[in-house]
Amino acid sequence: MQIITTVSELRQWREAQRKQNNEVGFVPTMGNLHEGHLQLVKAASTACDVVITSIFVNPMQFGQNEDLDAYPRTIEQDKAKLLSLGVDALFLPSVDEMYPRGLSEQTFVEVPDISHILCGLSRPGHFRGVATVVAKLFNMVQPNSAFFGEKDFQQLLVIKTMVKDLSMDVAIQPVAIEREADGLAMSSRNGYLSQQERSKASILYQTLLDIKKAIQAGDRDFLALETRARSALNREGFETDYVSIRNALTFSQAEKDAPQLVVLVAAFLGTTRLIDNIQFTC
Ligand code: PAF
Repeated sequence: MQIITTVSELRQWREAQRKQNNEVGFVPTMGNLHEGHLQLVKAASTACDVVITSIFVNPMQFGQNEDLDAYPRTIEQDKAKLLSLGVDALFLPSVDEMYPRGLSEQTFVEVPDISHILCGLSRPGHFRGVATVVAKLFNMVQPNSAFFGEKDFQQLLVIKTMVKDLSMDVAIQPVAIEREADGLAMSSRNGYLSQQERSKASILYQTLLDIKKAIQAGDRDFLALETRARSALNREGFETDYVSIRNALTFSQAEKDAPQLVVLVAAFLGTTRLIDNIQFTC
């Protein structure tokens, strides 16, 4: 596995792939790799000739009082996992390599509307940071396809919209959520949970399943379902940010006859903010 730290080395690597007519699959990450990330890598390996992963903890997508410094950095373990999956190259840029003019001077990409609801409301600037870093990484790596987890459903939509609006020539490939045995969606943030919090965390997924069951049994009072789920979570000790039932195709608040739904949830357990979602047809 070739370790690449600069944009100029990356361009050389990319040029070599082009000469060999290799389809390049890209898996951008912030490291601390878990089984969810590895599924992205496996999907990329299946679909493409070569796979490049990036690990970059992007300061631009963290708010002022968020966990940038505390974000888990486990580079040696990450390298070993990528190596064992046969990843061809790992892009490991420094903050200076990514943002040579500093963050405040950085040109940014902002996807309107969708960046400012749900997670975007509680994390102002977050999706601007994500869109900007992903746009930069796409320009650097120039992948044919890029792989993103469906756990970050809103992030995936922001990226798909950016790619469409800016006519980027990258196929965005969503990969299904990977879950622990008790249903908790895999996330680097799960590592912040205390033992007691961890034992409660799967209630988040259970709540999504309960909503799905109620809707599939014919309940269409989405507002009441959202309110009930929120109260149930808060009673269990979560501090719920949102529970939102949306049309999975348009991402607008679900109409009663929407054929495909996504239910999204974000809630704090202690100081850890967890998100999850479930998609289904009615
Ligand atoms: O999902 C993530 O890990 C990050 O938001 C991403 C897409 C790598 C951008 O920093």
